[in-house]
Amino acid sequence: MNSPTAENRQREKIPTEIFPTADEACRELARQIALALTTRAAEGRNFVLGLATGSTPVRLYRELVRLHREEGLSFSNAITFNLDEYYGLNREHPESYWRFMHDQLFDHVNIPASQIFMPDGTVARGKVFDGCNEYEDRIARAGGIDLQVVGIGRSGHIGFNEPGSGRDSRTRLVTLDARTRQDAARDFVGEANVPRHALTMGVGTILAAREVVLLAWGESKSVIVAQAIERPPGESVPASFLQLHPHARCLLDQAAAAELTRIKLPWLVGPVDWTPTLARRAVTWLSLDVQRPILKLLDQQYGERGMADLLTERGPAYNLNIRVFNETQHTVTGWPGGKPNADDTSRPERASPFPKRVVVFASEPSDELLGMGGTLARLFEQGHSVTVAYLTSGSLAVPDEEALAAAELVAECGLPETTELHGGALSGQPTVLNPHLQGPSLSPAQARLLKFRLRRAEARAALRKLKIPPERARFLNLPFYENGRYRQFHATSTDFDLVARLLGELQPHQIFASGADADPSSVAGVCFQVIHGAFALTREATWWNECRVWIYHSPEKTWPADQIDMAVPLSPDQLAHKTAAIFQHKSQRSQTPHNAAGESEGWLVAERTARDLARLYDRLGLAEYDAIEGFRRYSPTG
Ligand code: F6R
Repeated sequence: MNSPTAENRQREKIPTEIFPTADEACRELARQIALALTTRAAEGRNFVLGLATGSTPVRLYRELVRLHREEGLSFSNAITFNLDEYYGLNREHPESYWRFMHDQLFDHVNIPASQIFMPDGTVARGKVFDGCNEYEDRIARAGGIDLQVVGIGRSGHIGFNEPGSGRDSRTRLVTLDARTRQDAARDFVGEANVPRHALTMGVGTILAAREVVLLAWGESKSVIVAQAIERPPGESVPASFLQLHPHARCLLDQAAAAELTRIKLPWLVGPVDWTPTLARRAVTWLSLDVQRPILKLLDQQYGERGMADLLTERGPAYNLNIRVFNETQHTVTGWPGGKPNADDTSRPERASPFPKRVVVFASEPSDELLGMGGTLARLFEQGHSVTVAYLTSGSLAVPDEEALAAAELVAECGLPETTELHGGALSGQPTVLNPHLQGPSLSPAQARLLKFRLRRAEARAALRKLKIPPERARFLNLPFYENGRYRQFHATSTDFDLVARLLGELQPHQIFASGADADPSSVAGVCFQVIHGAFALTREATWWNECRVWIYHSPEKTWPADQIDMAVPLSPDQLAHKTAAIFQHKSQRSQTPHNAAGESEGWLVAERTARDLARLYDRLGLAEYDAIEGFRRYSPTG
């Protein structure tokens, strides 16, 4: 656990703890809840818990269930109130929060059904107001909430209190924010199926709890988390109202904490040890902040931004500027697999061995193109032996309409058998088939299989577009995904073994992967845990002596320029080529979450991100490229 000084926490208006992983944070919170339950039980009293749904608390619930099963933790004195529920979904709908809570927690612990309370999403419109007041009364009758667990949405919501929700708001019917509906689109197989309204406790209801704990994991939450914790409280980020609570705190993993001042710009909140990494970060930040290329930064500008001690230790500006400029310059290479027979002392990759055996992992088909399509094409062109390993089929992300269109095509040949999926199992997320869609009759199992095949065909077509033979693709169809469902994936040793076996077979010199900073419950996040686990399983193998691991970023967001270890520039033609490959994933149009510019099409988002990175390098005073794909070096031993 990171133990901050009061000094470097000075901008944080909610006490915040940063944990190495979400699992560690959840273990700590579960331990505290367990202690409260047992202490209260010994006093003959209840403990009133406010609960949340979504991806964030899944690990907390797993740990609570484990404590119940393995350590005898009793929930008989727990009374629970959930934050919210979609309006219009009945309890048994697979996406209802009622169903979620029972699947994740209530069905696995000894909490009496009479002590579980959730807003009722089926109440008739005319009775909603009364129902909400009744919910507030019930909380009061239980003696108020002792500890409320909340997650945070990218809109800044807690519960479903979207921007604009007042500090004193109470349980009510609300309209969901566009970002919230986009984030739920995958669960409902398309944004159109996401309910427009929900019932939620108000901000005031949450603030009335005696203690509130906000949890957040993954880089996608980092910006909003920093706003909630450091900016003045206000309705535009409802989670920021937690600053007004005397006993609110935040538990974050490292990726979600990345935008906090103490992590991102630590020299602004106290003295720092000016390591080369931190010096590069500070110089890069200064250059962007004062809008001057690195080589033109002046001693005076360092002084004006509170960085005089950096100059004392590593200055003057002239020397420091040149050092950081060169470091940044040396990240740029058109030879991502290393340039054969060239001096490689200042290059990100080694010249030999050449050619290299390269494995590119994609958590779902198209991830590899969105994040590193240009680099992938280069690696192949430059003669390396490239294998693209698709960890999951991506079938859950295919809208029904696409499956029906495919069914039209194959109808004449007879519909496929459903035994092809991993282990023949189809126990995972039920494929939602909208009864209003007209088309060939298709069972959910057939639909899932068609979706699976569709994505495989698209992946092969995309590789062909990059002039990579489709035989270079390996489809692992990891069981955690094929038998799982969104937000609740759980990798097991079978997943780890499948990836470890592939690595043992291919013995790579270079591995490309993504998802290191992703929400640990997302497909990319789980895939990364599996890859990491496979690294541990193969660690003793001799091929590791010659292997380097590179992480590519998600299509929506690249890293700050100072965190990039390899930058592969793309010409306009190369960028167009990458886009043409992404186009082959026809079923995925509009499936990628919107980026900050409001773009939803995967190719648009990926193009903008790669262009933004090029612009960033340009602003730092480096050569002007059309687009850049960025990579971080990753140490497989952690
Ligand atoms: C869920 C809830 C929401 C979520 C938030 C984050 O009951 O009230 O505020 O906590 O949308 O969702 P995830 O955890 O899925 O990222």
